[in-house]
Amino acid sequence: MDGNGRWARIRGKLRIIGHQAGFSAVRRAVHFAVNYRFDALTLYAFSSENWKRPDKEINSLMQLFDQALNNEIDVLHKNNIKLQIIGDTNRFTIELQKNIRRSEKLTSKNSGLKLNIAANYGGRWDIVQGVKQLAIQVQKGILNPNQIDEDTLCRYVCMHELAPVDLVIRTGGEHRISNFLLWQIAYAELFFTDVLWPDFNDITFKRALNTFMKRERRFGNSVSI
Ligand code: IPE
Ligand code: MG
Repeated sequence: MDGNGRWARIRGKLRIIGHQAGFSAVRRAVHFAVNYRFDALTLYAFSSENWKRPDKEINSLMQLFDQALNNEIDVLHKNNIKLQIIGDTNRFTIELQKNIRRSEKLTSKNSGLKLNIAANYGGRWDIVQGVKQLAIQVQKGILNPNQIDEDTLCRYVCMHELAPVDLVIRTGGEHRISNFLLWQIAYAELFFTDVLWPDFNDITFKRALNTFMKRERRFGNSVSI
């Protein structure tokens, strides 16, 4: 979800105003995903690299995250949405960690949209935490290193219980993955748009879906004629 800062700058406003507008776009996107019966929607809210930003901006982002959980969790729950936060949450304050666990627990049995928020997430971190879990099993003698293959590691990366990712949308004009899901997007379609995240709306979302539907997904197979 890139482009909040630029959206604010164009309007002569503080970056946090851009993040607030970005939050409104999140609500719209979740609404869209529910209406269109998505199985899952994963939003990259805060990367492992975002800690490099000024303290003031980090604090306001954390505050926004905490408030969003407080204000939205009941609505999410009423809409049968299952919320999951992916990422290394240990670095957040104890209060925020509690809030996250509480929100996940409340919605854990819901069968509707799986809404995943990536917070202090990094694709490389994700793979490393999976490898660590495998290493522990090897150490305990439960797992033989020769048995390790792609399917083994697949079961330990975030969102392993969900279907593979179909489509990645990056807003804000950048044409890179920036350490978002790495393992999970091996065969995902990529859609890049110059639209700044706070401007992302149903029209942009539909454009991304239309592009996706026109693509032929071969998963390594040959071109069909
Ligand atoms: C939002 O956009 C991403 C978050 C970390 C919340 P940016 O804050 O990266 O916006 P730009 O790239 O400066 O426009
Ligand atoms: Mg950015």
